[in-house]
Amino acid sequence: MSRVLGIIGAGKLGTTIGRAASDAGWQVDFFDSAPADLTSLIVEAMVPDARLVPLTDLVADSDIVMLAVPFSLSDQIDYSLLDGKVVLDPMNLWEPVDGPAPTTTERNGSTSQLVASRNPRMRLVKSLNHLGYHDYTADARSAEVPSRRAVAVASDDREARELVSQLVDDIGFDPVPVPFDRSRLLEPNGPVFGTWLDATSMRKVLDA
Ligand SMILES: NC(=O)c1ccc[n+]([C@@H]2O[C@H](COP(=O)([O-])OP(=O)(O)OC[C@H]3O[C@@H](n4cnc5c(N)ncnc54)[C@H](OP(=O)(O)O)[C@@H]3O)[C@@H](O)[C@H]2O)c1
Repeated sequence: MSRVLGIIGAGKLGTTIGRAASDAGWQVDFFDSAPADLTSLIVEAMVPDARLVPLTDLVADSDIVMLAVPFSLSDQIDYSLLDGKVVLDPMNLWEPVDGPAPTTTERNGSTSQLVASRNPRMRLVKSLNHLGYHDYTADARSAEVPSRRAVAVASDDREARELVSQLVDDIGFDPVPVPFDRSRLLEPNGPVFGTWLDATSMRKVLDA
């Protein structure tokens, strides 16, 4: 049976990852806050095999729930639904998408630490945030290619990290698992953000 990737937010990143996962054999479900007729047009065009489902169904059915909404709107998600779920956080405070940083995000830790604090019972994994959405199409390579572009997978939950690493591998990138406290290094202005690195170079950068 195929794994299920549930994506909250059918925008640029959500539909790109959704298409890649769907092509790799994952069942992909979407939920978006935009009107259903508009979202269904987008989903049908971008990820034809995906389903548009209510949020509660998406959460119940998914092996991974991905939060692909602008960070500035991410506090509107009902995090209480996500108890015990593997939650993939690809969000950035990236001004062109997310707008200027709201004052509530003045913080010492990463944005993912802030997300984690919204429900400590989520099995949170930070990943897929440090490449542009178009890179996930342009740079994807099959596993046989010796040196693929690397994508970091940050979590302290080993099983959750392995599951997201499988997704990263399936969509054509070499996963680099790291502890959750490396999340900040993945953010805009960090050493891996927007940089082409293979797995060996990324490990060096993140372990330094
Ligand atoms: N774009 C990239 O290259 C890229 C790369 C890496 C990481 N990221 C990060 O990924 C996140 C999403 O970026 P994006 O470029 O995909 O944004 P986007 O194109 O603006 O898409 C976001 C989608 O989420 C929907 N949405 C907003 N609030 C929602 C909610 N509470 N529940 C359900 N759906 C909601 C939006 O609907 P409406 O339009 O109706 O508001 C929109 O369809 C951001 O944090 C961004 O920093 C983006």
